[in-house]
Amino acid sequence: MSTVLKINASLFAANGQSSQLAERFVAAWQASHPGARVVERDLTTHPVPHRDAARFTAFLVQPEARSAEQQAVVAFSDALIAELRAADVIVLGLPMYNFGIPSQLKAYFDHLARAGVTFRYTANGPEGLVTGKKAYVLAARGGVYAGTLKDSQTAYVRDFLAFIGITDVEFVYAEGLNMGDESKHAALARAHQAIADLTA
Ligand SMILES: Cc1cc2nc3c(=O)[nH]c(=O)nc-3n(C[C@H](O)[C@H](O)[C@H](O)COP(=O)(O)O)c2cc1C
Repeated sequence: MSTVLKINASLFAANGQSSQLAERFVAAWQASHPGARVVERDLTTHPVPHRDAARFTAFLVQPEARSAEQQAVVAFSDALIAELRAADVIVLGLPMYNFGIPSQLKAYFDHLARAGVTFRYTANGPEGLVTGKKAYVLAARGGVYAGTLKDSQTAYVRDFLAFIGITDVEFVYAEGLNMGDESKHAALARAHQAIADLTA
């Protein structure tokens, strides 16, 4: 039985356009993969704290030398990583805010990037350790950027996921959502079709 991890990063939680697209994707996926288990992580209703010096230091301390507080910090990150590892398919709702990814999502990524756990450095460069997964990213944007240099999100999300070993990543874009009703409806219709094609 496959496990799908659905991650929402919209300020508007389940009501965000990206979250609605992620939900649509997961519903379609379940219809074509009966029995698929779905785990949900909403980074707005359950925010991940930003990684500060104390948190970062906790990761560097040897397990037996960690204080109770440091153990809790590491356990929190370990749980997020275990949840990711347990998933076969990752479905990420990705809003664009101020030309980048939501800070909530960045904070989550900062808990996933752990040397020796999710990646390691080798003589050939970094090696991702979270392998064997497929990721789908549902990107919602007010404007239109895909395929241009202004789309900093796609390269960044691809690079981050690849860094930890997730190299098989498909993007679905709903762009021009704030450019009038016609643009919005056309963008959502295209995204819905892409979702139908990817989950068939
Ligand atoms: C705080 C904020 C910042 C935004 N910044 C951008 C932006 O830089 N570029 C853009 O195309 N759209 C921008 N938008 C529009 C969002 O990308 C659009 O509303 C999209 O639907 C957000 O996804 P969500 O509905 O899942 O939250 C912004 C929206 C908000 C609320």
